[in-house]
Amino acid sequence: MIDGKKCIGILTSGGDAPGMNAAIRSAVRTALYNDMVPVGIIRGYNGLLEKNYRIMDSPSVSNILKKGGTILFTARCKEFYEEKYRKIAYQNAVEIGLDGLVVIGGDGSYNGASYLSQLGLPCIGIPGTIDNDIACTEYTIGYDTAMNTVLELMDKLNDTSQSHHRCTVVEVMGRHAGHMALCTGVACGAAAIVTEEEPMDINEMCEAIFYARSRGKHHFIIVVSEGVGETDKIARDIESLTGIDTRAAILGHVQRGGSPTLRDRVMASEMGNYAVHLLANGKGNRVVAMKDGKITDFDIQEALKMHKGLDMELYRVMQEIV
Ligand code: F6P
Repeated sequence: MIDGKKCIGILTSGGDAPGMNAAIRSAVRTALYNDMVPVGIIRGYNGLLEKNYRIMDSPSVSNILKKGGTILFTARCKEFYEEKYRKIAYQNAVEIGLDGLVVIGGDGSYNGASYLSQLGLPCIGIPGTIDNDIACTEYTIGYDTAMNTVLELMDKLNDTSQSHHRCTVVEVMGRHAGHMALCTGVACGAAAIVTEEEPMDINEMCEAIFYARSRGKHHFIIVVSEGVGETDKIARDIESLTGIDTRAAILGHVQRGGSPTLRDRVMASEMGNYAVHLLANGKGNRVVAMKDGKITDFDIQEALKMHKGLDMELYRVMQEIV
């Protein structure tokens, strides 16, 4: 409690994602609307370890809806793997006066939220990652913006690839998940999409290129999910096996930046609001999710056990329309 009012901490953790600011804004404004005190924790769980925080008011989140990154900063906090530090973080949260905590991040961040909930601080996770790899939810904040960024870059690569009758091997982010590779690959008309879930060896990639050529294509985009790795080598091997001039393009962290799309802003606003209402209703150890197009919530531990596969129907469609 702070000044006799329920106090809600908010932090962003793990890799940043466009739309995190919209979620922060929503959580802050929802807390204020419901007569609670919002507290921004700086640099993820590190802020709890260092007692680095600031009390938020409405102007503190003005004009951040359209901003990429996170105004609270973020980090991957290695100390949180150790119980000793989780206890320090919990103790600091009590001393700050936190009654609950909203954690915006990927599933790595949910472990921390679950530990703190077990220690007695109710925590709610909000899915924020460009990878869309959190199994309990159909959608994670940042995914749409990142995919649109990738698509814009792929369209540009496609222009130059087409002009030179080249093959371009494009590596997109996604850690060990191929969702972004699949969707952006379909959207840019890729000749093949290579993911950890649906791997292809170099001969299969070349066959896909020859197939596309037999249908009249003279330039080829091969999308490779980052978990597959060896993008430069794949490009070199394609060139030597097919004789087609080939380039590699590793898109990298540019995919995580930029102003969030409408979809990310709306989703983040809804999820931020939902998370604070869960805490206001005495819930903890939950993660906000989108299921069948509706916002809902799951127990964090149950959510972490779930598995999310690639959209195989979309994969099938891609194979038929090369
Ligand atoms: O989880 C988001 C993500 O961008 C992944 O796609 C990628 O594997 C990872 O983060 C990169 O992490 P870092 O920014 O710490 O290098």
